[in-house]
Amino acid sequence: MNLKIIAFLFITLLGAPYIEEVQAQKESVCVKCHSQLGGKFAEPVKLWNESIHKEMGNNCDGCHGGDTTDPARAMIKESGFLGKPKITEIPNFCGKCHVGVKENYLKSAHGIIAAKTGAPNCTTCHNSHDVKKASLELINEKNCTRCHTYEKPQKIKQALSGSETEIARLAAQIKNAKGSSIDTRRLEEKLFAARNAIHQATHVLSVEKINAIKATTGKELAEVDASLKEINKEIAKRKRIAIGVMIFCFAAAGVILLYRKTFLKPESWFKV
Ligand code: HEC
Ligand code: HEC
Ligand code: HEC
Ligand code: HEC
Ligand code: HEC
Repeated sequence: MNLKIIAFLFITLLGAPYIEEVQAQKESVCVKCHSQLGGKFAEPVKLWNESIHKEMGNNCDGCHGGDTTDPARAMIKESGFLGKPKITEIPNFCGKCHVGVKENYLKSAHGIIAAKTGAPNCTTCHNSHDVKKASLELINEKNCTRCHTYEKPQKIKQALSGSETEIARLAAQIKNAKGSSIDTRRLEEKLFAARNAIHQATHVLSVEKINAIKATTGKELAEVDASLKEINKEIAKRKRIAIGVMIFCFAAAGVILLYRKTFLKPESWFKV
């Protein structure tokens, strides 16, 4: 039997139950117990299952603390359990991981007013459990006119949208270059840093400050763009060489065929 087939059978017959067991062990006691509770205590599990946090491994304890392995110790103070945050605690609750965002937010009109009233806080815009990947789509009339007019939000969105389009364009080109097996790590890192700075700028809520951040990231983006132009030239050159090699091979094959037909046919040996 083929070695690959043996390995495959070994993994499916013996490995699968083992893998399942490991995955079951990995499911936290928080998720297990809360799924069974029903109502508002089970709702967080359902919502979190659809979130970017679940996808990226930020589990219940990342936000709430506690012991995910032992039901008896799960929700006690000694395990670092924080419980449900008060509304004014939310910026620090989320900000222990999203440090840069928190700093910008706390200095903004939103952060200053929320220190007293509790809103708008992180969950006003991102929710608590079904947190999704963030984009400028979040700035829309429905979300932003609950407390004031759309005039200022729209200006913020306009200030940011040019960079957002440019970042998306460069990201697509990097992906393309990667497909042609070119090392794009350095460019990816640069783009990622610029993207972060721009995204974090959203929480500043000031068009002037956004423009100042854009002045720096604009330079970085232009450098990425220039490198990509060089890479694209290189890809085009490689394509031309590949086509050249292909044409050469076809021509060579044609010559060999002709050679065999003319000189190597057995009957041609005896013809006078
Ligand atoms: C054995 C069942 C069980 C386990 C395990 C469990 N919980 Fe709970 N949890 C409950 C019940 C029941 C409540 C509601 C009553 C209460 O607050 O004690 C609750 C309430 C909560 C609340 C709301 C508290 C509040 O102040 O309103 C949070 C937050 C929470 N759990 C998070 C967690 C996290 C995080 C874990 C894992 C580290 C976890 N739970 C593990 C049963 C459980
Ligand atoms: C990204 C941070 C974050 C994660 C991850 C998270 N929570 Fe929460 N949770 C919150 C916040 C903020 C609140 C308080 C505001 C609210 O009730 O929506 C909260 C509230 C709760 C409550 C109280 C609900 C109520 O109506 O009283 C429970 C129960 C709870 N979470 C359980 C969980 C469980 C179980 C998990 C894992 C599946 C989890 N949370 C994961 C942020 C989080
Ligand atoms: C224990 C750390 C931790 C805590 C606490 C936490 N997050 Fe996250 N969050 C992450 C990680 C990890 C990611 C995925 C990586 C990334 O995109 O930054 C993420 C991603 C996000 C994203 C998507 C970012 C993107 O790239 O579009 C948003 C929005 C977000 N979190 C909001 C919140 C909010 C709101 C809270 C509080 C209710 C919170 N987070 C609490 C770790 C955390
Ligand atoms: C008024 C609404 C609003 C509030 C309040 C808010 N955010 Fe955001 N957040 C946004 C928008 C809009 C974006 C998308 C920005 C973009 O795409 O340029 C975003 C982006 C993010 C990102 C992604 C950043 C990245 O690098 O991709 C994270 C993480 C995040 N927010 C966390 C938080 C946290 C934590 C808080 C509270 C301290 C918070 N947000 C408060 C609207 C808000
Ligand atoms: C829970 C209420 C609430 C929501 C929702 C809300 N805001 Fe605000 N916002 C305020 C308050 C309060 C102020 C300060 C007073 C004012 O300017 O009206 C403010 C001010 C602002 C300012 C002016 C900042 C300055 O320094 O002049 C901008 C820009 C802004 N918000 C953007 C947004 C965006 C974008 C959204 C939607 C993603 C949003 N807001 C959603 C309450 C809210």
